[in-house]
Order: sequence, then structure tokens, then C-alpha cells
Amino acid sequence: MRVLVTGGAGYIGSHTLLELMAQGHEVCVFDNYSNATPDVLTRVRSLSNGVIHDYVGDVRDSDKLDEVLQDFQPDAVIHFAGLKAVGESAEKPLYYYDVNVSGTLTLLRAMARAGCKKLIFSSSATVYGEPEYLPYDEAHPTNPTSVYGRTKLMAESILSDWAAAGDDRTAVLLRYFNPVGAHASAQIGEDPKDVPNNLMPFIAQVAVGKRDVLQVFGEDYDTPDGTGLRDYIHVVDLARAHVAAIDYAANAHGARAFNIGTGLSYSVRDMVSAFEKASGQQIPTKTVPRRAGDIAVMQADASRAKAELDWEATHGLDDMAASTWAWQSQNPDGYEQR
Ligand code: NAD
Ligand code: UD1
Repeated sequence: MRVLVTGGAGYIGSHTLLELMAQGHEVCVFDNYSNATPDVLTRVRSLSNGVIHDYVGDVRDSDKLDEVLQDFQPDAVIHFAGLKAVGESAEKPLYYYDVNVSGTLTLLRAMARAGCKKLIFSSSATVYGEPEYLPYDEAHPTNPTSVYGRTKLMAESILSDWAAAGDDRTAVLLRYFNPVGAHASAQIGEDPKDVPNNLMPFIAQVAVGKRDVLQVFGEDYDTPDGTGLRDYIHVVDLARAHVAAIDYAANAHGARAFNIGTGLSYSVRDMVSAFEKASGQQIPTKTVPRRAGDIAVMQADASRAKAELDWEATHGLDDMAASTWAWQSQNPDGYEQR
């Protein structure tokens, strides 16, 4: 299929390009590089030896979207382009609604003009909010606790209403749990611009000597070691879930949500130990109070994705830690060459 990938130069998008091309799909990237660099595509091209069409543009720019949709004529769109920092979303709510919600609306309108009716959406487990039961299945009530989470839930609602209004429309809503890890080549990976918000990139920066100590946000949760439990998912498994979703969308109609996780969960301490083992480095830690808005345990029931997408995670914790370490140690400054 011909797949337009918005935000394709980002962390998850870049890994997905490789998996799509490996399965023979033709890809086109649409990215404004607000959180990426064109070097990403140079590396993806050299890893794949494939053709990647690419356009620089913003998903809120309908003229630019018309141009790429008319030129490339995609069969489906994977919509990664968006903003993802929970803290920043509270400080700049209108910016987050504009990019994540208006951006999705603008894209859908442009798709309608181009006759493209299949969309795979980057949603998040954060749409569920405080668990009423665990693991979360897709029927769990949605009650996001951040502006970011609400933008994702609104976009899901828009996509569901859009898909219901035409027989041949498909929206696949992929609710990611906690993506970590990097491609086996160590050529592409996560490259946070400022201080990392998320655990794994922070640990990696401590291991490589860029930061002194990992702050453990709370050791008084009702979990076996007192730290938060999360369902970490290797980014290559996550990328493959998008290929599975593309295959599914070819024959499905309407909107459908899928949890994309492993069904397992690990604590902050587990992640530190796995990283110490993979890197041979010691990770100094300091326990500090809980981070506002954090939940004790997040864990997926990923059975729907297995049954309906024929997808399941295959990479374990050791691989998540080892690939992150390989990427971080070989690219200590990320994509920036110094
Ligand atoms: P990322 O920031 O690495 O990738 C997003 C890409 O979109 C970047 O290349 C950025 O330059 C681009 N972009 C941002 N705003 C744009 C705009 N207005 N127009 C065009 N391009 C734009 O993030 P990621 O981790 O790869 O996440 C991809 C998607 O998955 C996001 O929508 C994010 O909200 C969602 N998601 C991520 C996580 C996670 O932990 N990484 C978890 C759940 C959901
Ligand atoms: C965070 C976001 C969530 C988003 C997800 C994307 C918040 C409150 N939630 O989720 O909306 O979908 O990222 O991946 O920001 N931790 C530390 N020290 C650190 C960083 C994290 O102890 O420096 C702990 C956290 O308390 C948590 C675990 O590590 O228990 C994972 O944290 P993180 O990687 O930020 O992910 P989430 O909190 O699950």
C-alpha cells in the first residue's frame, strides 16, 4: 500500500518507516521537524536502501496537506504528528489542542478531498486515567487526567464519528503503553530535546554520564517494591503493530481501539536493574516525592490486538534495555553530531 506517515521523522515514526518498507509498502513522510531532524530520514534511507518520499509541512496547513495528498495519493495515513509532553500540555493547552485536535481535523478534511479513507492514529494508554480495574482492556472507561490525554481522547472521538459516517472509512486507534528501546542497528532511537520526561531516556542519559542521578518519583506506591509499574513496549514491536494495523484496515470498516502493550509490567527498580545489566554501568538513584498525576500501575490487556490484528510483542525487557544502551552509547548526543 501507499502509506502517508505524518510525524514520520519522530521516534516511533522512524522505526515504523523501516517496518513498513520491509513489508513492501511505499512510504511518504510529512513532518514539520518541530521535534525531529532531517538526519533521521538520511539514516532510515541508508538502513533500508529504499525510497522515502518526504514533504516538510505542518498538519494544520491544509494547502500543504492537499499538495502531498494529491502528489502521493496514499491508500492510508498513519498519523503520528503531534505533541506529547504532559507537563507542557498544562502550560500551553491551546497549542496542544491546536496541533493534536485541529491538526487531526485538518488532516481528515484533506484526506476527504483526496479520497483517502483509512487512518491509523497514535493514541495513548493515558486516555484511560486512574484504573478502575487492571489490566486495562479497551472497554475500560476513559478519563484522562492531563490536557495531553484529553487531546488524544478528543481526536479518538472525532475519528470514531468520522468513521461511523461512511461505510468505507476505517480508523484504527492504537493506544500505546510505554514505548522504549531502539532499532537493532543503533542508528535510530529516541532523542529528547531537553531534560527527558520519561524514565528510560533519563536512565540512558545517566548511564552515559550526561546526568548525575535518576530521581525515583515515589517509593511508597502499593506495588511490590513501592515504585510505579508500567507496561513497557519495545519500539520495534510497536512499529510492527502499525504494519499489522495497515493490513487490518485494508478489510475493516469503522473505528476500533487496540491496546498496544506486552501485558507485563515492570517497576522503576526493575528498569534500573535491567539497564545496569545491559550497560555495565551503575545508575545512581535518589528517591524523591511522587510526581503529580502519576498512577501506581499501568498494564495492558493486549488480547484484542493479538486476536484481531494478529500482532503481539516479541521483545523482552533485556532487549529494551540493551537496544536503548546501544543507541545512547553510540549516539551520546542523539542525532546532533558534535
Ligand atoms: P516524536 O515527537 O518523536 O514524533 C512526533 C513527530 O511529529 C516529530 O517528528 C515532530 O517533528 C512531528 N510533528 C509535531 N508536530 C507536528 C505538526 N504540527 N505538523 C507536522 N509534524 C509535526 O514523538 P513520538 O514519541 O514518535 O510519538 C508519536 C506519536 O505517538 C505522538 O502523536 C504521540 O503523542 C504518540 N504517543 C507517544 C508515546 C510515547 O511515549 N512516545 C506514547 C503514546 C502516544
Ligand atoms: C508518561 C505520561 C503519559 C504518557 C507517557 C508516554 C506523565 C504523568 N505521564 O507516562 O501521559 O502517555 O509518559 O510514554 O507524564 N519515573 C521516575 N523518574 C523519572 C521518570 C519517571 O521515577 O525521572 C517513573 C514514573 O513515576 C513512572 C515510571 O517511571 O512510575 C514511568 O514514567 P514515564 O516514563 O514518565 O511514563 P508514564 O508516567 O507512564
